[in-house]
Amino acid sequence: MDKIDLSLEIGGLKFKNPVLLASGTVGYGNEISEFVDLNKIGGIVTKSLSLKPRKGNPPQRIVETASGMLNAIGLANVGVESFLKDKIPFLKGYKTNLICNIAASSIEEYVECTRILTSEDAISAFEINVSCPNVKDGGLEFGNNLSAVGKITSAVKGVTRKPIIIKLSPNVSRISDFAKVVKEEGGDAVSAINTLVGTAFNIWTKKPKIFNVTGGLSGPAIKPVALAKVLEIKRKVDIPIIGIGGIMNWQDAVEFMIVGASAFQVGTANFIQPNSAELIIEGLIEYCKKMDITKLSEITGSFLI
Ligand SMILES: Cc1cc2nc3c(=O)[nH]c(=O)nc-3n(C[C@H](O)[C@H](O)[C@H](O)COP(=O)(O)O)c2cc1C
Repeated sequence: MDKIDLSLEIGGLKFKNPVLLASGTVGYGNEISEFVDLNKIGGIVTKSLSLKPRKGNPPQRIVETASGMLNAIGLANVGVESFLKDKIPFLKGYKTNLICNIAASSIEEYVECTRILTSEDAISAFEINVSCPNVKDGGLEFGNNLSAVGKITSAVKGVTRKPIIIKLSPNVSRISDFAKVVKEEGGDAVSAINTLVGTAFNIWTKKPKIFNVTGGLSGPAIKPVALAKVLEIKRKVDIPIIGIGGIMNWQDAVEFMIVGASAFQVGTANFIQPNSAELIIEGLIEYCKKMDITKLSEITGSFLI
């Protein structure tokens, strides 16, 4: 019945629609599959995977804030081997793009994780997390360093033919400089943004509300910042952008596309309304009908056209 085309392509990879589930908010897809028909969505981004399993930070790891939340999970994950053995069989049952998000504490570890995972046919692309604010080793250290981001991009491109998306940190002075380096080193796309560094204190105990003291702020509170970062990249660099940050509904998603996102990810919304991704797809179809749009991707960057 729907003649509306929601599809798009990034780095030669076709997506049936631009709605992706953000890293760290749906586990390995299994945690949300009761609520969302994963066959309907454009893609799943896994929790960040590291070479070896990680326990992450001790609790308290999450706290609610005004219009958002702070998290300092510390990249708890099962590691690449267990992911391939225990999580891939479940994910293989779905017809959606599987994007493996990788976190590491050295360039060699990024390369090794990508090399191990790339031989698995069920994996469509990689999102390289150079921007996690919650770990001492790596993470933001890389995300803040132009030359490191360039080296990581070219090194992982060297071991896979699958698209490489570099997930950028908003905790830098000029995010477009990082997108430029990613493009120069052969990256296929950037995703923006990861969380903003924040903190919250209990006034009675005078102690931080999360064990790690600082955490990453996400949710509606960061949407205007994320939109401005996507717009900055779109204005300065010709590279596909996957918009992330506070998308709670289809209207938010449309805003991201207008300022330049080819696709987008839904994160914190999954904790509030676990079927948000499906509702967003329905809303996008209705929006296209109302606006007389037959191919949704035409609105990407329309503010600048
Ligand atoms: C609980 C939680 C865990 C997260 N874990 C990861 C992670 O492992 N790797 C990563 O790249 N981003 C991680 N993120 C960041 C999200 O993928 C996303 O970039 C961010 O939350 C902003 O989007 P949102 O406002 O829609 O949540 C996490 C976010 C939350 C809330």
